[in-house]
Amino acid sequence: MGNAKEGEAYFNGAGRCTQCHLATGDLAGIGSRYEPKTIQNLIVSGGGGRGRRRSAGAAPPVKAPPPTTVTVTLPSGRRVQGELDHLSAFVVALRDSDGTYHSFARHDSIPKVVVTNPLQWHIDRLPQWRDADIHDVTAYLVTLK
Ligand code: HEC
Repeated sequence: MGNAKEGEAYFNGAGRCTQCHLATGDLAGIGSRYEPKTIQNLIVSGGGGRGRRRSAGAAPPVKAPPPTTVTVTLPSGRRVQGELDHLSAFVVALRDSDGTYHSFARHDSIPKVVVTNPLQWHIDRLPQWRDADIHDVTAYLVTLK
């Protein structure tokens, strides 16, 4: 078990978790929602990533990962943004925040397509984790009841 105080300092400081999370916001009560083992997996994977898949069957089911978003910039400069529905070499399709479906033919690099995985930070972070930090942050999040 890690050190919750160290974990709190890491969460608010070196870990930069507060860029996207709030102990009193989205992560409030996480300590009563999940087992410590599940929380540790969530910290590492962000929820939809490899940690979850590796522990398939062992860990209790957690909610689905957030959707992948995409920004399409048309030659006119108009930008359409939303939840990625389909992407191939020839077409990109998405659903905007109103739920409206948009589909665009692609020719070479037109229109410009930028796909964002909301869990990219967690994925990039995977190889950089130190065991002690994972254990400390887990110990801290477990105290958020
Ligand atoms: C650049 C943004 C970003 C940063 C920085 C970030 N996360 Fe996340 N994290 C996410 C996103 C996006 C999710 C998925 C949220 C969802 O499922 O609603 C997530 C999910 C999680 C979850 C699972 C939450 C749940 O209720 O399922 C935990 C725990 C978590 N992050 C911990 C951390 C910790 C600890 C740090 C710092 C070491 C951190 N995150 C840094 C974006 C970030």
